[in-house]
Amino acid sequence: MQDKYKINKINKQNKYLEVFWSDNHISKYHFLWLRDNCPSAFHKDTRMRKFSILSVPNDINPIKFNYSDEILKLKWSSENHISNYDLKWLRNNCYTEKNLKKYESPYKLWDKDFINNIKNVTFDYEEVISEDKNFKKWINTIYTYGIAIIKNTPTKNKSVFKILELIGCYRETFFGTPFEVINIPKPNNQAYTADALTNHTDLPYYEYVPGYQFLHCLINEAEGGYSTAVDGFAVSNFLKLNDINKFKLLTNHGVIFKDNDYTQKNIRLQKSPIIKINNKDDYEEIRINLGAMGTIDLEPSIMSDFYEAYIYFYKQLHDENFQIEFKLKSGDIFCFDNRRILHGRTKFDPNSGNRHLKGYYIEREEVISKLNYLNDIKI
Ligand SMILES: [Fe+2]
Repeated sequence: MQDKYKINKINKQNKYLEVFWSDNHISKYHFLWLRDNCPSAFHKDTRMRKFSILSVPNDINPIKFNYSDEILKLKWSSENHISNYDLKWLRNNCYTEKNLKKYESPYKLWDKDFINNIKNVTFDYEEVISEDKNFKKWINTIYTYGIAIIKNTPTKNKSVFKILELIGCYRETFFGTPFEVINIPKPNNQAYTADALTNHTDLPYYEYVPGYQFLHCLINEAEGGYSTAVDGFAVSNFLKLNDINKFKLLTNHGVIFKDNDYTQKNIRLQKSPIIKINNKDDYEEIRINLGAMGTIDLEPSIMSDFYEAYIYFYKQLHDENFQIEFKLKSGDIFCFDNRRILHGRTKFDPNSGNRHLKGYYIEREEVISKLNYLNDIKI
């Protein structure tokens, strides 16, 4: 056993045990935390917590403790309960240590030069579905960069479902799964025309916006119809570094996104900031979609400044310094984090050939939980 997992000494303090490890690290384990996390607190099969903290007094404390090379044994002041903690588990869950570590973003931001490395995020369908190593690499890629392309996917039998099933449950929406991206008469969405689509995230009028989007190209023989992509987190970061006031306007104030197309018997409305950050000041979500933009109803005192920020950000989201452009081929799946990466397309000429994509959504949390499983993270 490494020094890291060996105990040298333990002091009992007022509310916690102070554990001195052989690598000189000192952990604090509060009595309530220890009792709450006794291995017997969890059902052996469901792995769900069955112990309730309400069942013990608040002043519970260990009346006896001893340790070996592998186990810390505590006898509690209540119920004669005995807990045995695996030292490796205890150290790996040391919250003194976890809170000393600086937060590291899981995201790698990118700009226009990313196109030069596109082969590093390009995968082969058979290799992804048949080899765990490649599947894991692909999942890791879409999580880290927010984007990947899978090539040589069969264009029959909705073959993308095979990939979705390897991850988890797909996300249904009122567009159906898969949704068809093809120009149709009397369209209920701009995507179903031959027009250019400015860079956008899909479905911002949902309270919980669908996470990853997979666009499976069946045929793309029309003139035009190039795909575009922009890392919304990278552009947000540019804004933050260059104009913090504009950045704050877009993170602190909500705008209305809406959908009420003529086929709907629902009016979907959602008020949300365009840029959402989490409590670590990292990026969580970008919502932006010209077609789904409602009528902004902010305070008159900030309307001018807000519009300036919104226009500036929207311009950067189409700036050639940030955007990449590529043409999808039959059998390609364009995979991206719809809550991070904006996508768009140039217009195409429907008389010059066919263009047909099928779209699927799956939540970000499905992707992350699969990655946790593949990485065998210890909890
Ligand atoms: Fe879209």
